[in-house]
Amino acid sequence: MQNLLVTGGAGFIGANFVHYMLATYPDLRVVVFDKLTYAGRTENLAPVAQHPNFAFVQGDICNLAQVQAAVAQDQIDTIVNFAAESHVDRSILDPDAFVQTDVYGVYVLCEVTRTLGLQRLHHVSTDEVYGPIPTGKFREDDRFLPTSPYAASKASGELIALSYFRTYGIPLTITRGVNTYGPYQYPEKAIPLFITNALDDLPLPVYGDGQQVRDRLYVSDHARAIDVVLRRGVLGEAYNVAADMEQTNLTVAQMIVAALGKPQSLIQFVKDRPAHDVRYALDASKLHALGWQPQVDFATGFAQTVQWYREQEAWWRPIKSGDYLAYYRQQYVER
Ligand code: NAD
Ligand code: TYD
Repeated sequence: MQNLLVTGGAGFIGANFVHYMLATYPDLRVVVFDKLTYAGRTENLAPVAQHPNFAFVQGDICNLAQVQAAVAQDQIDTIVNFAAESHVDRSILDPDAFVQTDVYGVYVLCEVTRTLGLQRLHHVSTDEVYGPIPTGKFREDDRFLPTSPYAASKASGELIALSYFRTYGIPLTITRGVNTYGPYQYPEKAIPLFITNALDDLPLPVYGDGQQVRDRLYVSDHARAIDVVLRRGVLGEAYNVAADMEQTNLTVAQMIVAALGKPQSLIQFVKDRPAHDVRYALDASKLHALGWQPQVDFATGFAQTVQWYREQEAWWRPIKSGDYLAYYRQQYVER
């Protein structure tokens, strides 16, 4: 791996992955290819913008010619795909872009990998492809039963990619990560939304009774897991990425108001998300066998994340006062 194309690298996990890879591998060239949707922000790449081995290309993974041109121009040998519409609530309001990017876009990347003979396509997927699991943990060969349009589009993208491995033998690997949190996460997702609302003394909207359970993985651990699979993963295989740090949403909301010295009365129970998955949990022993373990426990990652949003108002305030407001009103006020 010498020349890496990181699709969706201006988003939350993609940007953290790019920071990590450039800091870890001095000889690696990294090109971010990103459409810059509402979630893609060049500010997320500011820490590496001047790095001599870094470049940025604005483009759409649904556009075959654009992806081919980026691959040819920079002699790309490896693609890591983070590009996606990623928010469940938005997929419930308007699934169209999800089907485009999370399904058709993955097909385009498979086609580029096949026709240009790349060394690797690594596809970043999610625990949501399996659907909810009230008790126990999913393993990689369990069936897909996704609930939301987001989860179904991610499952469909994976199935296309796996068909390209089986039919054409493209050099594919997949990771399925649990809920990830940390710096640069767009403040529509629960943890950054709750932190930034609490900082402004705004209500924290907890869906339903807040008893839904999510496993929470710190973003640097997620980035490292992808790197491990790039280096040691078996082609055609998927790897679960889990932290084993399950919490209810209500517990997380309570921790956030406590950490910021705000009253618990800021927590507001609101109408539940339709078909809200009660719990996700993954067995990551297959990835442990490759030598990966999470390094950041929830207490540490949580404290670092709260501190980051406290210090980085210049990052999140413009987001929360821009187009975001229209979405926020639709999501929380009009429903
Ligand atoms: P994000 O929404 O923060 O970032 C997505 C990025 O993709 C943005 O930069 C956006 O501009 C870009 N993008 C969207 N459509 C594009 C297109 N058509 N062409 C090129 N770029 C496009 O998402 P994230 O939270 O960083 O998630 C990254 C990946 O990880 C996604 O595939 C998601 O499904 C997966 N994932 C996320 C989590 C999580 O908790 N955030 C957990 C597991 C898996
Ligand atoms: P989210 O961050 O949207 O991730 P996902 O839906 O992919 O798990 O939500 C995490 C959990 O928090 C999920 O159970 C939904 C819940 N949630 C709330 O209770 N209130 C909110 O405002 C948001 C955005 C999410």
